[in-house]
Formats: sequence, structure tokens, C-alpha cells
Amino acid sequence: VIERLLPSSVATAAAFDDPPGPATARLYPEEAAVVADAVESRQREFATVRNCARQALADLGLPPSPLLPDPRGAPRWPPGVVGSMTHCPGYRAAAVATTTAPAATTTVVALGIDAEPNAPLPEGVLDAVASAEERASVARLLREHPDVRWDRLLFSAKESVFKVWYPLNRHTPGFDEAAVHLSPKDGRFTAQLLTPGPRVFGRQLQRLNGRWLSRSGLLLTAITVWQ
Ligand SMILES: CC(C)(COP(=O)(O)OP(=O)(O)OC[C@H]1O[C@@H](n2cnc3c(N)ncnc32)[C@H](O)[C@@H]1OP(=O)(O)O)[C@@H](O)C(=O)NCCC(=O)NCCS
Repeated sequence: VIERLLPSSVATAAAFDDPPGPATARLYPEEAAVVADAVESRQREFATVRNCARQALADLGLPPSPLLPDPRGAPRWPPGVVGSMTHCPGYRAAAVATTTAPAATTTVVALGIDAEPNAPLPEGVLDAVASAEERASVARLLREHPDVRWDRLLFSAKESVFKVWYPLNRHTPGFDEAAVHLSPKDGRFTAQLLTPGPRVFGRQLQRLNGRWLSRSGLLLTAITVWQ
């Protein structure tokens, strides 16, 4: 479903469960070393999402390779590739794009995707991640459109912001560094950056435009930054 939120130049792959058998057997040795001490569920999501990423990279004509995290957890993509990965119970997804598209006039320079269950955030989390204005908006949206957990969707949008922002300039934004506005009608959202955003080809990003979807018990968000 994540492909519905992304332009056609972005390759995606997703899985709704993990294949049977040891997860580490599906990883390169250097990837398996990263999760060697992790619980089995973490090894499974880590392996399955990397299989998704390699499928998506293959769709771009790129060979399989290890996908290792940087010190803050961001995936290190092959040269000339940007991408993002997410996992939550019942869903794993990866999205990748090449940064060199000769035929295209604009190219993708950053991607952020996030999946969450369409369920309330745990007690206290909304207070930690949302401003008073965002909380008021969430309360109103929950009254008007109770089929979507807007608190969780706001959280997901901020996770997508983080996944776009960090790889661009290695800044780790806090939840108070973006003001998210969720639009109930058209499946779009905006994130106003409240501290100086990353520079992309000389342009300082001040606002990110994202898309969201509620489907099959999942909430999905995605942000694409173009050149
Ligand atoms: C890193 C983080 C964004 C992951 O989000 P999550 O909803 O917990 O988990 P998801 O399953 O959706 O995403 C995990 C994947 O994100 C990717 N990721 C991790 N750190 C990342 C980073 N610094 N930059 C980009 N992507 C990152 C990884 O691919 C990871 O999967 P992997 O470890 O199997 O490779 C989150 O844990 C975090 O640290 N947030 C920081 C605070 C924040 O979000 N601030 C909001 C600013 S507006």
C-alpha cells in the first residue's frame, strides 16, 4: 500500500509477515552481526525489511548488497540511492529512488516512510510528541473522523519527518522541531520546520509535504523531497 503515497519514480516493496526460518539466514554476515544480540522479533523485522529493500533496489536495476545502519540507525544506501524503511506489527516496507535520473527534470533527494497500527498512542505519548496546537487539532479530528487514530497518525508523520531530515544533514530533530498539519480530506499533511531545516541544492527546507493513508488497520505516511 505504501506505493500509493509515493511518485512512480520511487520503487517500493512490502511484506505483511516474515518468512519462516532463521531471520539471520536471510542477511549478509555483516548485517546479521548488527542484530546478533537482538530479540528474535527484531531480527525478523530487520531481515524482512532488508529483503523488501533489496527487491525495490532490484526494480531500479541495482544488485543486492548489505544495507548497514549508520551510528544513528539510518540505512546506508548504495551510492546514488536514497530511501527509507519502516516496520510495525503486520507490515514491513522499503522505498528507494535513484538520485540520478537523466531523463527526468526533477529527482528525488530524500524519502521518509512510516507505518503504524491504526490504534491509540500509549498513554502520555501524545503529550510528549505534540504541541498544544497539534493536540487540539488531534482532539477535533478524533471527534469528526473517529475511524482514524489521528494521534497515531501525527506521530507517524513526525517519524517520516525525522527519516527525511536526519539523512540530509545528520541533525536529529526533536518532536518540537516540526509543526504537523494533517488534512482529513485529501490524505495530505504538511510539516512546518520550526528550526533551520536541511539545505537541498542551496535551498533551505522550511516545509515538508507528505501524504497519508489509512488501510487494513494500518496508518502510513510518506514524504518525498525533490531537487
Ligand atoms: C528512528 C525512528 C524515526 C524510527 O521510527 P519508528 O517508528 O520507531 O520505527 P520504524 O520501524 O518505522 O523505522 C525503523 C527504521 O527507520 C530507519 N531509521 C532508523 N534511524 C534512522 C535515521 N536516523 N534516519 C533515517 N532512518 C532511520 C531504519 O531503517 C529503521 O529500520 P532498521 O533498524 O530495521 O534498519 C525513531 O525510533 C526515532 O528515533 N525517532 C526520533 C525522534 C523523532 O521522531 N522526532 C521527530 C522529529 S519531527
